[in-house]
Order: sequence, then structure tokens, then C-alpha cells
Amino acid sequence: MHDFKYKGKELYCENVRVAEIVRKTGTPVYIYSHKTFSDHLGKLQKAFKSVKPLICYSMKANSSLAILKLLVSQGSGLDIVSGGELFRAQKAGCPGEKIVFAGVGKTEQEIEEALRYGVLFFNVESKPELEKINAVAARLKKKARVSIRINPAVDPKTHHHISTGKKESKFGIDMALAESIFAAARKYPAISFCAIHCHIGSQIVSGDPFVEAFRKVLEFTGRIEKKYGAKIEYLNLGGGLGAIYKDEKPQTADAYARKILPLFKGRKFRLVFEPGRFISANGGILAGKVLYIKRTQVKNFAIVDAAMNDLIRPSLYEAYHEIQPLVRSPRAAREIYDVVGPICESGDVLARERLLPKLEEGDLIAIMSAGAYGYVMASNYNTRPRAPEVLVKGSHFAVVKARETLADLVRSETIPDFLNCP
Ligand code: LLP
Repeated sequence: MHDFKYKGKELYCENVRVAEIVRKTGTPVYIYSHKTFSDHLGKLQKAFKSVKPLICYSMKANSSLAILKLLVSQGSGLDIVSGGELFRAQKAGCPGEKIVFAGVGKTEQEIEEALRYGVLFFNVESKPELEKINAVAARLKKKARVSIRINPAVDPKTHHHISTGKKESKFGIDMALAESIFAAARKYPAISFCAIHCHIGSQIVSGDPFVEAFRKVLEFTGRIEKKYGAKIEYLNLGGGLGAIYKDEKPQTADAYARKILPLFKGRKFRLVFEPGRFISANGGILAGKVLYIKRTQVKNFAIVDAAMNDLIRPSLYEAYHEIQPLVRSPRAAREIYDVVGPICESGDVLARERLLPKLEEGDLIAIMSAGAYGYVMASNYNTRPRAPEVLVKGSHFAVVKARETLADLVRSETIPDFLNCP
């Protein structure tokens, strides 16, 4: 499942003691396992081998250049959502024909850059966006390949903040409107409608919502091909596969393939997937240090040096992340703690009411499953420099992003002259 395991008393990432990394980098620090990332991509590649899909890792989950390079060199494409992600994708050497571009608010500049780089297609989320892409492509004398993202109105039964395929969601185009777009396809001469896209949400642990959504995708695709002569080559089935944070039992890649592949049997479409969390969540941890143990009449707080600015998932989604000591203590006693960061917000909680081996000042902890939507959602709130990122491979490790310095944080700020006047 992942490569953060105890050997004796010590937590290791692959063959490196996590405490050894921390000794070099300090805390907080993100640590990634090369093997875990690679294995999770490999599981999907293997499960779907028979249909030769295009797997476009959803880089919003973790866009470290080192991670992108690792995945791209193992055959992955990328799912991008901004010009910034396109820039990173290029830096990581991902060819345009393996990039799909999603997101509800692509700017004209982003569209132009993606067209010039030759992305495989744009996932289009509204009619005005389609018109904009058509206009930019016409101006550049190019044909833009487009995937219409339909909103299948399916409840993925996940946290409401990460559910995207319901009727009231800002994502996708409802099927009636999508059909009217195909009916009027000739109004978009610079567009080639080559794909249908559907992504219903994230951290989906059972196959049923996917099956329900993909049936609708197939019905819709059949209809527009028949009625309007659309020529659909790709079905982009999005991401959303759940990861294990606690005791979830998400479908494996094999079970997912067994469940959905029969739907596409005998159909000509090339399947595209956009997994983010499945590949990255368990590939990373955030290591931190206990600063103080604060005891009140009602609670024990373990105040650590990692905080919501480093990992916002618990504050934002009440997400659960396992907390483990880097060195298992010989102390047998256990205690219940709220593990909190130093930020001046009562929401700065990394774990609530957690029974843990008794902690002491200076103890090192790992916040597990932090490889997805961790570093990428970090901020500088409270003027906290962002943590460094480390990649481990076997017995080697490298800092792949240095800790920000205080000078980094103020580098692009200026104090205008008028503030210096008396
Ligand atoms: N494709 C599209 C169009 C998406 O919007 C997303 C995620 C993915 C693929 C990848 O989904 P995944 O396989 O990772 O579930 N920050 C939240 C998750 C936000 C997901 C946004 N879209 C979290 O920390 O749980």
C-alpha cells in the first residue's frame, strides 16, 4: 500500500530512516516515496493494460517537478488546470499529446499557450468557454480539440466539498445543453469535438457511482453520434478513485477495472483517466515536531510545528490523517490529544481527539497520507515559509524543493515612497 514502515522502532521511507531526513532538513518537511508513486501508477497501468488507456496523472494533487518527472518517465500523461500547471508539465518533459486541460475558468492566454503546445484536448466546462476556445483557435489558425465535460447528475457519496458531478455543481455541462452544443457544432469551425469528459468527484470508494455516471456518458455519446454525426474518439473518465487514510476500503485498481471495463467492451473509444489522489496520497507524509504539550481542564493539546498552512485538509474538509511517531516510544502509556499547529485560528487542527502514544516536547511525528493535496495547497499564512519537499528512492534521498526563506516571502514586496514621507 505504501512504503512508510517501521523497522524496529524507527519509521522508514523505503530504506531511509525518516528521522535521518528530518535531522538534515528540520521540520516541518514533506517526504515522498518514489516507489509508492511508481507502484500506484503501475497498478492502474496494469489493471487497464488490455485497453491501452491514456493515464493523465492529475497534477493538482502534487505538482512537484520531481514527482512529475518520475511519473512522466514511466509513461504517464498529465491532467492540467492552469497555465502554471502547463509550465510545470513542460518542465517535466510531458509531450502535448499526453496532456488534457480542464478547469472552469481558462483564460485566453492559457488557451493560447495550450494550443501552441499542442495539448491533446481541452475539457470544456461551459458554452462561453467553448466560444472563447473557438475564437482563440481561429485567430491562431488552429483547430482546437475539445472534450465536452458533461455533468451526469450523479451523487458520488463523498464529502460535499469534493463532489463535482451533482446538478448544483459549478462543473460540467448538463446533458441537455451539451446536446444542443453538438446540434450546433458547425457554429464552432475551429473546434474538433473529439471527446466526452466526466469527473464526478474525489475520494470515491465504491465503483457504483462511477458505473452510474459512465452509463450516462455512453448513452449520451451514442445519442450525439447518431443524431448529429459526432465523431468521438476518447472518453475521459476523470479521476476520483479513493485512497486509504484510515479504515476505508476503496476499490483496488483491479476491482475498478473489472467493474467498469465491461461497460466499454466492443466500443471503439480510447479511455482516458485522470487519477490524482490514488497515485499520490499514500506516497507522502508531512513530518513535524512536538513543540509543547498543553494540558487544559478538558483536553490535551499536542502543539506541533506543522500547521494548517502546511496541510489544510483537516481544517478544510475535516479530513482524517493518521498520526504516527517517527520513533516508537518504549513508554506504554497512551493519551488523547488534539494535534494542533501554531497558527492563530481555532481551526488549525491536524487531528482531533486522537489516542496516541504519550507525547513529549521534542518528539517527532509523521502526518500520514499527505502526498495528495498537501504541499500544493500550502500557504504562507502567519508568514510561515513553506516546508521543503524530499524525495526518497531506495537508500537515497534528495531535497527536491528547498524550505522557503523569510527573504523569499518578502522578495516581491515593495514599500511605496509615499509611506516614507513625513
Ligand atoms: N479530474 C478532474 C477534472 C478533477 O477536478 C480532479 C480533482 C481530478 C481529476 C483528480 O481527482 P482525484 O483522482 O485526485 O480524486 N483538495 C481536495 C480534492 C480536490 C479535488 C479536485 N479535483 C482534497 O484535498 O481532498
